[in-house]
Amino acid sequence: MTGKSTDNDDITSKLSISVNEQTVAILPDQKNILESLEYAGVETHSHCRDGFCGVCRVTLCHGEIYYPNGEPLAYVGDNEILPCCCVAKTSIVIEID
Ligand code: FES
Repeated sequence: MTGKSTDNDDITSKLSISVNEQTVAILPDQKNILESLEYAGVETHSHCRDGFCGVCRVTLCHGEIYYPNGEPLAYVGDNEILPCCCVAKTSIVIEID
């Protein structure tokens, strides 16, 4: 391993998630937002962890995300995201019911 980091590593290591009055760091090697929430001990809901069931659905109040493997199959309304299969482009603010 060369230890070489990419620009993406530098950006994501500074990103955060504000959720229900708590702020947690996004893991530098984030696979998805759900992993960062779980790592920080935030109570979340999940089942398929692959964009099919919609159980992990949360409200995105601020910030930008993307789905690296394409749009998920589960229904997502306006301002909703599926943390199990999306990655943060910016720091984000979400609400978990
Ligand atoms: S856990 Fe099933 S869509 Fe996220």
